[in-house]
Amino acid sequence: MNILVTGASGGFGKRLIPALVEREKVKIRVLEHRSPVELPDCERVSGELADRDSLTAATSGIDIVVHLAALTHSPNREDYFKVNAEGTKNLIEACIRNKISRFVYMSSGAAHPQGGAYSESKLAAERWVKESGLPWTILRPREVYGTGGKVGINQLIHWVQKSPLIPVIGNGQYLLSPVFIDDVVSGTVEALFQADALENTYEFAGPEDITFATLIDRLSAYFGVHVMKFFIPVSFVQGVTSLLNLANINTLVPDQIPRLLCDKQPSIHSEIPLLNYKPRKLEEGLRLYFSCKD
Ligand SMILES: NC(=O)c1ccc[n+]([C@@H]2O[C@H](COP(=O)([O-])OP(=O)(O)OC[C@H]3O[C@@H](n4cnc5c(N)ncnc54)[C@H](OP(=O)(O)O)[C@@H]3O)[C@@H](O)[C@H]2O)c1
Repeated sequence: MNILVTGASGGFGKRLIPALVEREKVKIRVLEHRSPVELPDCERVSGELADRDSLTAATSGIDIVVHLAALTHSPNREDYFKVNAEGTKNLIEACIRNKISRFVYMSSGAAHPQGGAYSESKLAAERWVKESGLPWTILRPREVYGTGGKVGINQLIHWVQKSPLIPVIGNGQYLLSPVFIDDVVSGTVEALFQADALENTYEFAGPEDITFATLIDRLSAYFGVHVMKFFIPVSFVQGVTSLLNLANINTLVPDQIPRLLCDKQPSIHSEIPLLNYKPRKLEEGLRLYFSCKD
């Protein structure tokens, strides 16, 4: 089985590929964009989602494509659509040319019409996938932790350990469903090989929905630290973000605010028996993450 993974250098790709390499009779090819992919036992090909020829070459001889590559943080709305929607369409067209037998698209639990540019671009990509005529599976991870980066809730985890004062956008009552990266990885691997997972969308949520404010409390209890929440009105954060973006400081980009605040569906049944997906509780995931890091 020949598998192409796009976005292999990202936080998720780095965890998924070692898990795929372990499977028998699997050969991995990775699409290397700008960052080098330093993973053993993989064939590396250079490529860019806007470059159709590179995608045709990358998908040649491939059975399954796992499409992780995406623009996840940008101050420019158009760039999300170019990379995430148009780029996915280009990749799909290459897959059709090369008659691949399965297309697995890593969407997002934030794919939501009111979630801002990133979320909308992921929804647009989902539509291309569903209309492609290729056998497809769409995966929607919620708020993933344990990837080691310093964005999203990984950043919050870092802040709670280091700072006594934690900024909260708005009232902090919006729901999150934190999920440990290893759970998303094992669910994804199952989704690649499970025949009944075709033409289906799966949400990889954590085992519970908690508010942002509660997440801070749970993290501070876990690390045994005392933190104070500092509530900032949404409109103020929006204004400051726009000004900082004008000065090319993109610590926070405008669409991250609706992405965080939009009304995501509560994930009442997070387990997915077909994919052996049974997500760990937050504290269990954190324990595993920090025991591996040390
Ligand atoms: N992490 C999360 O919490 C989370 C939650 C839900 C969904 N997701 C989805 O999961 C996927 C992986 O996320 P991640 O956290 O691993 O993302 P990431 O760390 O930001 O990595 C993005 C990857 O996409 C590649 N890429 C970006 N633009 C490209 C282009 N034009 N052509 C080819 N490759 C390009 C990057 O390569 P270079 O670095 O070389 O540019 C990188 O390998 C994404 O689709 C994301 O939307 C992530």
